[in-house]
Amino acid sequence: MADRDAVPVIEISHLWTTLGSAIVHRDISLEVRPGEVLAIIGSSGGGKTTLLREMLGLQQPSNGRVQVFGRDLTRLSPIERKLMPTRCGVVFQNGALFSALSVFDNVALPVREVHWWPESLLEDLVLATLQETGFDPVDAYKLPAELSGGMVKRVALARALVLEPDLLFLDEPSTGLAPDQRHAVTQLIAQLKREFDLTVVIVTHDVDTLIALADRVAVLADQHLLTIGPLDEVARYPHPFVRSFFLEQAGRCEQHRIVEFRSELERMHS
Ligand SMILES: Nc1ncnc2c1ncn2[C@@H]1O[C@H](COP(=O)(O)OP(=O)(O)OP(=O)(O)O)[C@@H](O)[C@H]1O
Ligand SMILES: [Mg+2]
Repeated sequence: MADRDAVPVIEISHLWTTLGSAIVHRDISLEVRPGEVLAIIGSSGGGKTTLLREMLGLQQPSNGRVQVFGRDLTRLSPIERKLMPTRCGVVFQNGALFSALSVFDNVALPVREVHWWPESLLEDLVLATLQETGFDPVDAYKLPAELSGGMVKRVALARALVLEPDLLFLDEPSTGLAPDQRHAVTQLIAQLKREFDLTVVIVTHDVDTLIALADRVAVLADQHLLTIGPLDEVARYPHPFVRSFFLEQAGRCEQHRIVEFRSELERMHS
């Protein structure tokens, strides 16, 4: 659980992003606390992936500051930049495995980029990490094209965790999976968070994932950070995006008692 008074793992101050002539983010400030799971929701094309890329230092905001582990990402030394993947793991939207590399080589890649390890040790580490994410090591020499959607997510998680990071970014980790696989991946993330003692930033549009994982939810809409807080508070925030997001999944909101009845949701947002 998050420690409210501890130094934030991520601190975003007055961030603006302009891509071409479009403003994607206007004056966004937020922090991620150590040990918490912060979920980001927002409309498609609303700038969630872009914000993750900015937290990872893969993309520069047009204005404002992003600090990770107390360091301004624009001021990292080359060695700090090189070592960042040892502290931050990421599962990109759709898994983003290298299609020409085997499962083993995909997971080994981050290790090979920062350490020289004897092959036998590397093999132990990669196979053990695959096992942690519920991927059968027997399939470690398959190519990504030979895997099911659920297996791709498990490999992507193993690649993100192989360097034992403190901070994990997940961009839509359960999207595109059948409901049972979605549930399994969500449970796996909860388990890995505990085992690896992670702070997690997750982009999702799935209420079940929010319920199972999120300590706080941040809503991006109309280029702004609309609201951030516990799920039941966010669900009551009066805004058309929030209304349609939760009404579309009202059955599951009721089931989990985020709100008692669909009519309550409708009344709150009428
Ligand atoms: N490299 C780029 N150059 C120009 N525009 C871009 C670039 N990357 C993203 N965009 C635009 O920035 C906006 C935000 O995109 P982003 O991928 O961050 O949205 P998203 O919230 O992750 O969407 P989705 O839910 O569909 O994944 C979109 O309008 C997109 O077209
Ligand atoms: Mg995205």
